Amino acid sequence: MGVRANSRPGTRQSVTGLRRALAVGALGVLGAVTAFAAASGPADAAASTLGAAAAQSGRYFGTAIAAGKLGDSAYTTIANREFNMVTAENEMKIDATEPNRGQFNFTNADRIYNWAVQNGKQVRGHTLAWHSQQPGWMQSLSGSSLRQAMIDHINGVMAHYKGKIAYWDVVNEAFDDSNGGRRNSNLQQTGNDWIEVAFRTARAADPAAKLCYNDYNIDNWTWAKTQGVYNMVKDFKSRGVPIDCVGLQSHFNSGSPYNSNYRTTISSFAALGVDVAITELDIQGASATTYANVVNDCLAVSRCVGITTWGVRDSDSWRSGDTPLLFDGNGNKKAAYTSVLNALNAAPSVSPSPSPSQSPSQSPSQSPSQSPSQSPSQSPSQSPSQTPSGACSATIATISSWPGGFQSEVTVRAGSAPVNGWTVKWTWPGGQSFSSLWSGTQTVSGSNVTVRNADYNGSIAAGGSTTFGFTANGTAATPAITCTSP
Ligand code: XIL
Repeated sequence: MGVRANSRPGTRQSVTGLRRALAVGALGVLGAVTAFAAASGPADAAASTLGAAAAQSGRYFGTAIAAGKLGDSAYTTIANREFNMVTAENEMKIDATEPNRGQFNFTNADRIYNWAVQNGKQVRGHTLAWHSQQPGWMQSLSGSSLRQAMIDHINGVMAHYKGKIAYWDVVNEAFDDSNGGRRNSNLQQTGNDWIEVAFRTARAADPAAKLCYNDYNIDNWTWAKTQGVYNMVKDFKSRGVPIDCVGLQSHFNSGSPYNSNYRTTISSFAALGVDVAITELDIQGASATTYANVVNDCLAVSRCVGITTWGVRDSDSWRSGDTPLLFDGNGNKKAAYTSVLNALNAAPSVSPSPSPSQSPSQSPSQSPSQSPSQSPSQSPSQSPSQTPSGACSATIATISSWPGGFQSEVTVRAGSAPVNGWTVKWTWPGGQSFSSLWSGTQTVSGSNVTVRNADYNGSIAAGGSTTFGFTANGTAATPAITCTSP
């Protein structure tokens, strides 16, 4: 199938992005997990591949793989050497996996999955509910029968890969290109709740997978589409709809160029309590500077978990005429490759340390923050006395408010020394109370509030910061807050 019907040539981009999932080898998300103890400063020795370089900061570097190219040794040599996360370019889509209603076919999807895990890579699942690349039978459905078909499809595909997929793009491209609202698709016409139904179905089907919303043209913070998706994620988090991550496809070109507010977009999504991934990166012309900017923007946000380029060589790209990737058609490294590798190598490192195996019971459905791919575990409880902690400070800001409630974000900063565990305290001035809190753990005694770090954000590099957020009942307030660290 070709490019999406509603793509505007030259303007449509798909961006993908997720965050720090270390390659844990063929063990996948259920296997032994590598945890990290924070270390400040850049890596000691530069890594020589994208995947290894990204892993130094607990992130992954991935690529889209096409099953039809797995017999091309030039292709697989580069793909295997450089990348530690794999997305099937087309083979896990609806038309590929359920060509006839109720008859699932995983032949090509499994070829990619097996190649990935046999070579020690993790897999991003792409994608379960989408208006495009639907099989004919689904295109002709509507209303409750389409809704049921969507649910059945999610259950069928996720059951096949249960426990094996680090991140699933549950819903792809559900927003309108310009007005900030929903795209008018057959799925949308089944009712506005179709997206949350898809996420709830997905959580029940595979509690170990991190569940993502993925879209293009949500890179520029000022665009209405970005704000529309942001508001949906905020709403989902406040209502407990299970969502763990947002994928920025990040197809950049002249109609949808990289903008320096990209970092704001990534950090703003992350502040909602979700991982962010760059999921389908390609840049028309492959400017080395722009590629480095994208990488550095991800590296600046702790919950930006990883970067995937949408193909290996320019000749493999869905937009090959744009020569938008890191390797040329002969498999040579381009200037952009070097700038990406250098940026990854300059990132502050985290060093691996052993940690207990994860089990499905520690899945994102119960505690997204405990998922192995979500966060190198940096909790002080794991190494209470190994590293003295520096001082911290905290500030509180109101993100939005409404009659009877408000949302706030607290930024916790390290001083000139790394912080290993933090505790923030304040006193509510007017009877406020939490309705939900993310990226921290709360203790409330009367009007006195204590929030400690979550298991994944206790370690803050020197000069760095992390955030937690909450929604609360009552009148928005910015009380004096204190931060202490052990
Ligand atoms: C593209 C593939 O690269 C093409 O091979 C296919 O013909 C169309 O789809 N956003 C997405 C991806 O989420 O699935 C799309 O992939 C690119 C845009």
